[in-house]
Amino acid sequence: MTERLEGEAGLTRAVALLRAGELVAIPTETVYGLAADARNGEAVAAIFEAKGRPRFNPLISHLASLEAAAEVGVIEGAALELAQTFWPGPLTLVVPLRADSGLSSLVTAGLDTVALRVPALPLAHALLTALDGPLAAPSANPSGKISPSTAGHVAESLAGRIAAVLDGGPAEVGVESTIVDCSGPSPRLLRPGGLPVEALEAALGAPLNHEAPTNDTAPNAPGQLSSHYAPGKPVLLNVTKPAKDALFLAFGPGYPHASANLSLAGDLREAAANLFAMLHALDTQPGSAIAVAPVPHHGLGLAINDRLTRAAAPR
Ligand code: TXA
Ligand code: MG
Repeated sequence: MTERLEGEAGLTRAVALLRAGELVAIPTETVYGLAADARNGEAVAAIFEAKGRPRFNPLISHLASLEAAAEVGVIEGAALELAQTFWPGPLTLVVPLRADSGLSSLVTAGLDTVALRVPALPLAHALLTALDGPLAAPSANPSGKISPSTAGHVAESLAGRIAAVLDGGPAEVGVESTIVDCSGPSPRLLRPGGLPVEALEAALGAPLNHEAPTNDTAPNAPGQLSSHYAPGKPVLLNVTKPAKDALFLAFGPGYPHASANLSLAGDLREAAANLFAMLHALDTQPGSAIAVAPVPHHGLGLAINDRLTRAAAPR
């Protein structure tokens, strides 16, 4: 059952649950987030499972301070300017990921950039300070439903699917954070949100680029990612007998000669946690292609197959 947590004791309990790899809905000034330890791949996979998200889009990592954020991503130039002006607050910055960030590659969906945010709500700040580590957290609603601004909203929609809800009262802002991509040559607005664009432009002393990136391969719904990690090698799906010169990414028992196995036990949560890291690793090994064994089409298998299908699409 989902615990309702409040006050000092609730905070301590939330930290313990998150450290143990459990999911906890947490308050922020924008909306409630469905949080997991961003360094724990299986915990992050459980976020997608609980939300019923049919695809893996990268998640925002929440940190206690600019200093803590700078250990995960490279915050320089315009990103540093914006972080110093608006953090803590309803602004998310996409910046280059540090190689030693320690984040699960499921958080960034295998990308080499990361979305970072330092929330302003004192309870969120206290939680992140006590935890002393990054929390991955999308909005705490089932896929396709509106974002929750109270603990009650979260409990209504996710009760029984998550360990706990930490009650921090109604979210003041009520809409998600504004996202600015600072990983390119000039800052670009990815998602309008709680921090007005005019405030950002005033701080930058220049208009923000609003245009969608030109390398779009898929329709780009608001708040959806436009570029995707894809291996350099061809990817072949539903393979049970791979060609000799191909690398073989297996799922489940019965593949003793696989190059790697998403989950020997056939566990979809473990497979989701391994997906991007294993694709990356195989992509650097000698071989003509990456052949992938069949992955079942239920639960997290839907998101895994969605991502594999895109990786296999002709480019
Ligand atoms: O207010 C908020 O931002 C809430 C609270 C809980 O903090 N969080 C939230 O997270 O809205 P989520 O996961 O629903 O939104 C993440 C957005 C997605 O649109 C995703 O595509 C984008 O951030 N994103 C994450 N990492 C990215 C990256 N490396 N490059 C581009 N976009 C990224
Ligand atoms: Mg959302």
